[in-house]
Amino acid sequence: MSTSGPSAVDLVVGGGIVVTPDGMRDGAVAVERGKIVAVGCDAAMPPARQRINVEGRHIIPGAIDVHVHFREPGFSHKETWATATAAAAIGGVTTVFDMPNTNPPTSHPDAVRQKIAMASSRALVDFGVYGYVGEDNIDLLAPMAEAGAVAFKLYLGSDNALVPCPNDGAVLDALAVIASLGLRCTTHAENTPILNWRGARLKAAGRTDLAAHLEQHTDIAAVEAVSRIALFSEWTGCAIHIAHENCRHALPLIADAKRRGINITAETCPHYLFLSMEDAEQAGGNALRVKPPVREAGHAAPLWDALTSGLIDMISTDHAPHTRAEKWRASIWDVAPGFPGVETSMRLMLNEVSKGRLSLPQYVRMACEAPARAFGLYPRKGALQPGSDADIVVVDLARRAPILGERLQSIGNLTPFEGWQTTGLPVMTIVRGTIVARDGRIVAAPGGGRSVHRGPASAAPACG
Ligand code: DOR
Ligand code: ZN
Repeated sequence: MSTSGPSAVDLVVGGGIVVTPDGMRDGAVAVERGKIVAVGCDAAMPPARQRINVEGRHIIPGAIDVHVHFREPGFSHKETWATATAAAAIGGVTTVFDMPNTNPPTSHPDAVRQKIAMASSRALVDFGVYGYVGEDNIDLLAPMAEAGAVAFKLYLGSDNALVPCPNDGAVLDALAVIASLGLRCTTHAENTPILNWRGARLKAAGRTDLAAHLEQHTDIAAVEAVSRIALFSEWTGCAIHIAHENCRHALPLIADAKRRGINITAETCPHYLFLSMEDAEQAGGNALRVKPPVREAGHAAPLWDALTSGLIDMISTDHAPHTRAEKWRASIWDVAPGFPGVETSMRLMLNEVSKGRLSLPQYVRMACEAPARAFGLYPRKGALQPGSDADIVVVDLARRAPILGERLQSIGNLTPFEGWQTTGLPVMTIVRGTIVARDGRIVAAPGGGRSVHRGPASAAPACG
């Protein structure tokens, strides 16, 4: 505690190095009623009711993960809003966007409202809710946006009966509607007929190994779908976001789409940057199954280059926990795809900062600013600026610790990064002025998280 008085603010986080995409400088951040009110040198800070001296550590905006599967309603044996947002908070993530493949799926305005209500009562961090795009709910897209959907999710290449892939005619109609709503459509871009055909052929041949999963999801299935959705975006004017980009052959198409002025953004995930099929044994064998797949070794370096150059705009996680029993199955076709990621992404990236492969300002651009800009939240989110939400993370670039699945907050806690030693850790997470995690522990009550949607009336068009 320090000086209090009529002009005192709620909190000053000081004695640190403030990081923005433009650079780093010694200083502090002042917070009043959940908003940042000043950023600058320590001496210029107003008096505060609480002052936290972070002793030379780095102060960054909270990360925004626009791709998580938090599982409720319907799959609370894998994950709950309470466990998942605890994972996010400890991982330095202050806003998440939850995918619609829950049960019931988030395909109706009532489901959007119910998920927002459920998350509001349990979440530790802020959240957005995706609405599902299907053949049967095109007339419900606008009502879902009104109910609070922050963006939409289009599955091209899914065999999940809860969220089937719409045909291309329906996709075009849906994109026209989403364009008129000024929201962005995140797309799982794979070609369904190719996946179905090859999957059937590989199963008929008796293949049950992880390599068969990769053969099913052949590169061209990703390339074709990225190409198609970019064209549809150009045709309809709908802003598109490419989910979990994993294939180097799709990168020239994204570059070309951007050059042509298509409103397209893209994300990749740590498992595509740090792992390859060649690591499968070490990363858990069949448990490495994820859709789309981790590919051969030649993909990670071009994905890194694309991410650091900004061609891939942002880092997300596709956090997709399953129980160990669901992951440890003999046949690859029975292994539930995905694993948790929201708690480990920042530390994996900070480890690269500690190795000099990435700068902290670059990380802030790809993890905080770019997602906020793409989804119309900037500068309320993703920035350390007066007027922004006080979503603040303190990171210790020197802290070295192993990633251990059993210590993760997620219920489904099998991680392909088991045993990895990382240098660099988020040590404090603040959501709209409330400290929610400190030194790897949750220090706030659940239920403080809020939906970030603004409603279509005030929604600024998503910008790339
Ligand atoms: O690996 C994946 N897991 N890919 C998806 O598209 C869905 C996700 C899940 O929900 O388990
Ligand atoms: Zn996903």
